[in-house]
This record gives sequence, structure tokens and C-alpha cells, in this order.
Amino acid sequence: MKFFIDTANLAQIREANDLGVLDGVTTNPSLMAKEGVKGQEAVYNHYKTICEIVTNGDISAEVVSTDFDGIIAEGKKLAAIHPNIIVKVPMIKDGVKAMKWFTDNGIKTNCTLVFSAGQAILAAKAGAKYVSPFIGRIDDSGWDGVQLIEQIARIYTIQGFETEILAASIRSSIHIIKCAEAGADVCTCPLDSILGLLKHPLTDIGLAKFLEDAKKFS
Ligand code: E4P
Repeated sequence: MKFFIDTANLAQIREANDLGVLDGVTTNPSLMAKEGVKGQEAVYNHYKTICEIVTNGDISAEVVSTDFDGIIAEGKKLAAIHPNIIVKVPMIKDGVKAMKWFTDNGIKTNCTLVFSAGQAILAAKAGAKYVSPFIGRIDDSGWDGVQLIEQIARIYTIQGFETEILAASIRSSIHIIKCAEAGADVCTCPLDSILGLLKHPLTDIGLAKFLEDAKKFS
């Protein structure tokens, strides 16, 4: 399973990248706004900087147009920023049409705001490189997000779809483990959830004892 970090914060992207286990970055308009990035040029420069930090991974950049022509025009500009940019397109009618156009024209896409298996089938049919089910938001509304990952994984295997399942809206380290079990190809996570995977009290207790004993022979 690949690890993406779900943020537009450059310090956090650098920290996750330094860990050596990062395979990419996802952003969205809310995450960009949170960083105070303003104006199209600043936004595009921010994406470029992210691509320069994570040199070996896919970087999702989201369109904010909702009509076919607008999505195509915006997606072309985003894709031109850097070869690692993946154009993130919402699961709406014009979005599906645009993803098919991008697929036919060699531009890779990430289909975002996916909340059902039917939407995931459409994304795969349109040739999206990634499909992003938002599992945390599904849990928040009283449904089971991980179950959706399992269902999409089953369908994609039976049908031989090549779209990768990118589990998004991750809220905890447990979510990451459950998504790995459920067959997600990628998890996009906040930095805390990635670092949370490191933690176990027995590791800390064991290390303290080893270091104490090491003093006896050093
Ligand atoms: C990822 O691509 C999404 O933008 C993100 O995971 C959404 O997460 P949220 O539900 O925490 O906003």
C-alpha cells in the first residue's frame, strides 16, 4: 500500500518525506485555503514547490470548475505545472466526462468525493488513475467507510479495473491499518496518523531497558 500525505502544509510534507516512506501528496481547496495560499499563480507555485519536495510521487491538484470546458481548461493548466501532477476531479456528471477526456489525452486523474460503489465503478470506467472514497466522512455520517473500501476492492478485482483505490479522509492510525486490510492501494493521511503508526508503549519500555543495559558494557 502506498502512503500519501493529505495536506498542503509544506513543513508537514517535508517531515513525512524525510521519513522515507512517502509516495505522494493529496491536497484539496480547503487544505490550500488553510495554508493561506491566495490567487491562481500562488496556488500553482505552491503545487510546484510540493512537486519539488516529493520528487518521486504523485501530487494531486484539484480543479475548482464544475463544467466540462472549465474542468478541461483548468486540468490542462494543472497538468502542465509538473509531470507528477494528478488532476483531481469531483464525482459529478461533467467530472466523469472530463476524466474520460483526460484519460484519452494522457492526463492522469484522481476522482474525488466518492461515497458509493456505483461512483467508484463510474470513475474506473472513465479511466481515473485513482478513486478517492472519503472514509472518515462516511463514518461521520453513521455508515462504515472501511466497508466501502472492501466493496470497491472486490468489484475492481472481479471486473479487472486498474484504477487504484485511494482511501481518503483518514482520521486515525487505525483507519490506515483497516484500509490496508480492506485492500486499499493507497492511503492519504494526516501526518499525525502516519506518525501514530510508530507508537507502542512496549517499544518505548523495551528501548529504555536496552539502553540502560547497554550502559553496563559501554
Ligand atoms: C483527499 O483527497 C481528501 O481531500 C481528504 O482526505 C478529505 O479529508 P477530510 O474529510 O478530513 O476533509
